[in-house]
Amino acid sequence: MRRYSRITGTGSYLPPRRVTNDDFVAQLAEKGIETSDQWIVERTGIRARHFAERDVASSDLALEAARKALEAAGITAEDIDLIIVATSTPDMVFPSTAAILQGKLGIHGCPAFDVQAVCSGFVYALTVADSMLKSGVATRALVIGAEVFSRILDYSDRTTCVLFGDGAGAVVLEASDEPGILACDLHADGRHVDILCVPGNVYGGQILGDPLLKMDGQAVFKLAVGVLEKAARATLEKASMTESDIDWLIPHQANIRIMQSTARKLKLPMEKVIVTVDQHGNTSAASIPLALDHGVRAGQIKPGQTLLLEGVGGGFAWGAVLLKL
Ligand code: ACO
Repeated sequence: MRRYSRITGTGSYLPPRRVTNDDFVAQLAEKGIETSDQWIVERTGIRARHFAERDVASSDLALEAARKALEAAGITAEDIDLIIVATSTPDMVFPSTAAILQGKLGIHGCPAFDVQAVCSGFVYALTVADSMLKSGVATRALVIGAEVFSRILDYSDRTTCVLFGDGAGAVVLEASDEPGILACDLHADGRHVDILCVPGNVYGGQILGDPLLKMDGQAVFKLAVGVLEKAARATLEKASMTESDIDWLIPHQANIRIMQSTARKLKLPMEKVIVTVDQHGNTSAASIPLALDHGVRAGQIKPGQTLLLEGVGGGFAWGAVLLKL
């Protein structure tokens, strides 16, 4: 019998501190940085984001999201035999945030590792988990996107600091006789490293280079809309399906205009797109599982429906996962 993997539970967590555009505009004004709610909403669709406190790490957010996903799947942490965390804001240089999370979940022994593919991290992690479940390496995985991007923002750069937020989303992925994940499509193009990066690194206990996020917004925008359409079409083709088979598009929540453009190219009405960027901002690897859980818990996304998840970001890296819930 063919082996597949299926999502059996979703969960998410946002740190309690919610910062609206007006709050943020006032905070930035104190530093002499000028922006406005109108500019942010018009260019990005973002109205609010959540920021974690200083002593809260990605693994803390991941833990809360994981607990909710486990509860939704009706299993406990002891049932998990694989943990993959997608993050670009790990708790430490090493060990992995996944290993730290494993300890916080009170389990031990199963493989646990991080995936670093920035805003595509969750679709990368889901694809890796799907392969490991299909090949019999594991049977029940926790796949998580968790970020504290607030730590790597340059609050003197108004073109980037207004875009991002913190949060975590998780799914339980279980081996199954029925699909499940139907097709995946992953890509990267290292020629574009410089358009979106945190270039600093640690050398001899000191930070060399700039440790804060740098982005060429227009270059990112142009590349993103092109590759998202290609990845969507490639994934549908692999599953012998078409755009009309998609019940929900769950794109990386970076910017409402990128999402609108992708939906337009795929001839999908915005009513079929899960949008959380307005309330969450861009939470990088966490944005897709956060949006998925939001849609499930709001009763929009229902069992049996077909979902297309799409990620894009630093690398440049991008990809899509087509699945039946
Ligand atoms: N408030 C007010 N004005 C601003 C702000 C701000 N926060 N930021 C920039 N501006 C000004 C600029 O200074 C510029 O002024 P000027 O014309 O006087 O020079 C003007 O607004 C236009 O600036 P642009 O950078 O050209 O603005 P653009 O329309 O390109 O919008 C944005 C910028 C929103 C970043 C856009 O390029 C974009 O959405 N890019 C995609 C970025 C993205 O989604 N990144 C994440 C994807 S990958 C990942 O998730 C990691």
